[in-house]
Amino acid sequence: MPNNQESISNRVDALIRPEIRGLSAYKVQAAENLIKLDTMENPYHWPQGMVEEWLTILQNVELNRYPSPEAEELKQQLRRVMGVQDHYQLVLGNGSDELIQIIAMAVAGTKRGILAVEPSFVMYRLIAQVLGIPYAGVDLTEDFELDLEALLSKIETENPAVVFLAQPNNPTGNLFGEEKVRRVIENCSGLVVLDEAYLAFTESDLLHLLDDYDNLVIMRTLSKVGLAGLRLGVLIAQQEWSEQFNKVRLPYNISVLSQVSAVFALQHYDVLSQQTDLLRKHRSDLFKALTQFEQLKVWPSEANFLLIRAKQQSAAELHSQLKEHGILVKLLDGVHPLLENCLRINVSSESENAALLSALGKLLPAK
Ligand SMILES: Cc1ncc(COP(=O)(O)O)c(C=O)c1O
Repeated sequence: MPNNQESISNRVDALIRPEIRGLSAYKVQAAENLIKLDTMENPYHWPQGMVEEWLTILQNVELNRYPSPEAEELKQQLRRVMGVQDHYQLVLGNGSDELIQIIAMAVAGTKRGILAVEPSFVMYRLIAQVLGIPYAGVDLTEDFELDLEALLSKIETENPAVVFLAQPNNPTGNLFGEEKVRRVIENCSGLVVLDEAYLAFTESDLLHLLDDYDNLVIMRTLSKVGLAGLRLGVLIAQQEWSEQFNKVRLPYNISVLSQVSAVFALQHYDVLSQQTDLLRKHRSDLFKALTQFEQLKVWPSEANFLLIRAKQQSAAELHSQLKEHGILVKLLDGVHPLLENCLRINVSSESENAALLSALGKLLPAK
């Protein structure tokens, strides 16, 4: 019998930190029967022959055994596909979300905080808050460029343990540029995590910066190239950093199913590359088509999504009208003042992009 002297809410209040009680859990929108253009997934599946080959491999997976804690075979494939030199180490996470958490846990308690630009990927702030790590955000400019002066000055006053920079940035889709990234790394005594989640959709690849700086690690993910369901994030780092992060990482964090499936998918990386190349082409078509709507401002993007602003109506209203037309996009109004009246839309297959444009055509008169 539970002791009812104390009500459950009193117990919760007594035991759960106020910062956590004050948070809202990360919300994922219900997507049943909708065209999902809200979470940057790859819309394409594998060719049937490839699916069959994969299923045959799965038949032999030993679910009764723990997964390989070091996942060496998977790391070998990742090194090959990502062109990682032997002297750098890989740390794998259950999505790059988990890598952000591992990095944050490793610096928790140092009294130094986490710093990120805003708007950017919300997990940097959320994970800091959950772990009770001080967090500081530095606003981008109106056009979502990196405000270098403001950022360097904040780095100087806050002296953060970690700076997270996503390039291309989510949800703005732009690159900050190598020169600015270098200036940040050079002016930071803490660790800079360069998050290249959208690498497959841009010409920018800053892996070579690892050769120049010992306070830099590079974070990548397989989620945006078609393997979001696997949950596999990759941190590329010098051994001194990977050694520490591996102590924080739970030993069996990448399941056997993820390991064998990712090895298989990486052996067929050409299929994934063809899909992402196609999405890059669709991005420029979709960009052009969206700019035909006078009521929308559309920002150019180096990622697999486009940020738009509704100029003459409420973005919240447009979001729900699109939903009534069977299309789910991400409403960003209210997330940050710079994202006022903004929506983020995935670049998807030809038919899904056409469905989006047709719905918008009904909702907004063309130029
Ligand atoms: C910039 C950035 N980093 C990391 C992630 C997390 O990716 P995952 O946990 O799926 O690897 C996302 C997801 O949207 C993102 O936009």
